[in-house]
Amino acid sequence: MRRLLVTGGAGFIGSNFVHHVLEHTDDHVTVLDKLTYAGNLASLDGLPSDRFAFIQGDIADAGLVDELFSRADAVIHYAAESHNDNSLHDPRPFLDTNIIGTYTLLEAARKHGTRLHHISTDEVYGDLELDDPTRFSESTPYNPSSPYSSTKAGSDLLVRAWVRSFGVRATISNCSNNYGPYQHVEKFIPRQITNVIRGIRPKLYGAGENVRDWIHADDHSSAVLTILDKGEIGETYLIGADGEKNNKEVVELILALMGEAKDAYDHVTDRAGHDLRYAIDSTKLRSELGWKPSYGDFEAGLAATIQWYRDNEQWWAPAKDGVEAFYASKGQ
Ligand code: NAD
Ligand code: DAU
Repeated sequence: MRRLLVTGGAGFIGSNFVHHVLEHTDDHVTVLDKLTYAGNLASLDGLPSDRFAFIQGDIADAGLVDELFSRADAVIHYAAESHNDNSLHDPRPFLDTNIIGTYTLLEAARKHGTRLHHISTDEVYGDLELDDPTRFSESTPYNPSSPYSSTKAGSDLLVRAWVRSFGVRATISNCSNNYGPYQHVEKFIPRQITNVIRGIRPKLYGAGENVRDWIHADDHSSAVLTILDKGEIGETYLIGADGEKNNKEVVELILALMGEAKDAYDHVTDRAGHDLRYAIDSTKLRSELGWKPSYGDFEAGLAATIQWYRDNEQWWAPAKDGVEAFYASKGQ
């Protein structure tokens, strides 16, 4: 039984990972999470108390991080400010958490010799043209566009430097867009699902031609566990499930699955600097470590996600009005 420390485990992907680990291994999990607006303890309800502990705190708190690293066998680092639109409004928290927070964890990993897996995003590579046949791979140069993605790129480079300069035992993964349960209603798919539930028309930025490469959060979790078990120290692995769709297709599918007319949505003000297309080539992870995704059918995964939001209104309702007021103030 390993003792895992999961930063950001009360957020969307972190909480999915905690559920996945407790279900598929006999590891013990401690979550360190600041419980910002994006963290929700209800996402961790019902977990076994003999295998799970929760600590509220900041990953930039060096004293707390040092103590938690001293009793962890491995750390999986999900904590971040994660939303592009927020980073355009107020970049500062992105620097504090994504850069200084990651630096703080790296210093603790260096001191204690702790195995660290750093969770990152395909957005560090910038974007691709809509008609570009290529996809991102581990050798694609970094070219981030937004304050969010540039701080994630910075955090990745810090990890690489601490591996090379100080021998920190770290790996990195860069994953594409996740969907599934426990995702905050500020994000695209939950925003549109909860809009339809509330009788609000879905909101599509610009023409809706931007492409995202969707993967179910549970497939992201299985990939991270695979890298933790079999990944080579110092290596980067791209995680993706060949799920490219443009935003218009996704909104139309949500509307169809929810029994609405497929054109019952509004075009709203586009995001500044909006990345056109992300696409992941995950050949390295699949061929070297033997991982493959389980959720091959996006429509079935989306239908299950819609059902989860229908069944868990008490989980998302407290955040919904504030998020919509924020978007409305920006014409979105
Ligand atoms: P999220 O915003 O849902 O959750 C982030 C969590 O981190 C929250 O629980 C929040 O309270 C916590 N947190 C924030 N600042 C903190 C701090 N200073 N100290 C401790 N905890 C703090 O984010 P998410 O969508 O689950 O993303 C998790 C990670 O995965 C991020 O690193 C993100 O860059 C990466 N990622 C996300 C996606 C995606 O599609 N959402 C895709 C690829 C990679
Ligand atoms: O690619 C991985 C990234 O995916 C992660 O690093 C980020 O943490 C995560 O938030 C996500 O970033 P995106 O900016 O791609 O996700 P978001 O859900 O904000 O938007 C998805 C697409 O939908 C994007 O093209 C913008 C568009 N959009 C978004 C919202 C909220 C709309 O058209 N309407 C909306 O209301």
